[in-house]
Amino acid sequence: MTADIALPKDWDRSGLPGWAYFSQELFELECETLFKTHWQFVCHVNEAAEIGAYVTFDVAGERALVIRGHDGILRGFHNLCRHRGSRIVPDARGVCNKAMVCPYHGWAYNLDGGLRGIANRDTFPPMQAEKWGLKPLEMEIWNGLVFIRFQAGPQPAVAEILARFDDEIASYDLANMVPTDSNSMDDFLAVNWKSVRDVDNEGYHVRQAHPGLHQLYGDGYFDEPYANGTSRSVGTFNEAYGHRWSVRKYREILPEADHLPLHQRRQWIYFGMFPNFVLGLYPDSVIYYQEVPQSATQTVQRGMCYRRREESREMKAARYLSGRIDRDTAEEDQMLMVWSCEATKSSAYDGVIFSDLEYGVKTYHDHLRRLLPVMGQPAPPEPGQMAQVNDALLGKGTA
Ligand code: FES
Ligand SMILES: [Fe+2]
Repeated sequence: MTADIALPKDWDRSGLPGWAYFSQELFELECETLFKTHWQFVCHVNEAAEIGAYVTFDVAGERALVIRGHDGILRGFHNLCRHRGSRIVPDARGVCNKAMVCPYHGWAYNLDGGLRGIANRDTFPPMQAEKWGLKPLEMEIWNGLVFIRFQAGPQPAVAEILARFDDEIASYDLANMVPTDSNSMDDFLAVNWKSVRDVDNEGYHVRQAHPGLHQLYGDGYFDEPYANGTSRSVGTFNEAYGHRWSVRKYREILPEADHLPLHQRRQWIYFGMFPNFVLGLYPDSVIYYQEVPQSATQTVQRGMCYRRREESREMKAARYLSGRIDRDTAEEDQMLMVWSCEATKSSAYDGVIFSDLEYGVKTYHDHLRRLLPVMGQPAPPEPGQMAQVNDALLGKGTA
């Protein structure tokens, strides 16, 4: 259900055109306009807690690495050797000892990104080390969450975007939470990334598609529309409802989370941040999920769970059960994403019609169309014209 939000009369219920879900040209424009220029979540600070620990993140043909220096400071860099472009650190996460050593020819960089040494130094002309360090990335930490941006863009600072959540998140002490292996997700999906977002941006499907989640909340769930690049949804437990073992047991054993205000002890709260990040605040843990586009029709959905450092046995068991409910929900959603994305290529597809309960999808699409008005066109532009037509619609030139 939607919170008490007055919807405009006669709003456009039609959604994005089908072609927007499989056009490779549009995907390339999205990479430029959205994924390179909007904040991207990389990790929690405690995923790189020790000196030399790093986490990498790739999107839109760009590669980032976040690493903790000898001075204890976390920094973000392009994961790209200045010699010939190899990855400096090869894995999704790991720890470097004294330095980052390029796997290709062995150039070494200090943990603060400065060039430390060149293999066979005398075979190069004179080079000033300070000009050959790793290229830094813009990075911001909000409540322990590390975001980077490959290029400046239309968004303000993360702290400004998410400021409206400051009060609600404070008591979770997220910055001091630690990552857990339970309930992490790194799933390859044969869908356009927007199909992931579309399923996630509405709760209309919860009753039918997510028996576990619905039993947890009953009808005590609502979505707020996207506003200034953020959305919020809240599910309040319906204590008397539901027969599924994991749900019943979860509500039964979940101890009093006395670090939280009373009303948040029996709620799951979700914050969405445009374009591709969702944070879930639970009494037992905090989770995130994020869709990382790979191509027009391929997406990786990743996520992780963070727990409080001190955790009772009961809270640990409750976290295990909330993870189980989440895992079921994710699998149910992934099926729906595939089906609705496939449909956009069918000869029978003639668009969608949104309920009032899907207003969150519409407001998200509005945000997309403001940046990429070409998505408002019923048919794709002629091949090779995507960027020009979009620019013309933005008033930046002529098509
Ligand atoms: S590409 Fe890194 S040392 Fe050559
Ligand atoms: Fe769902």
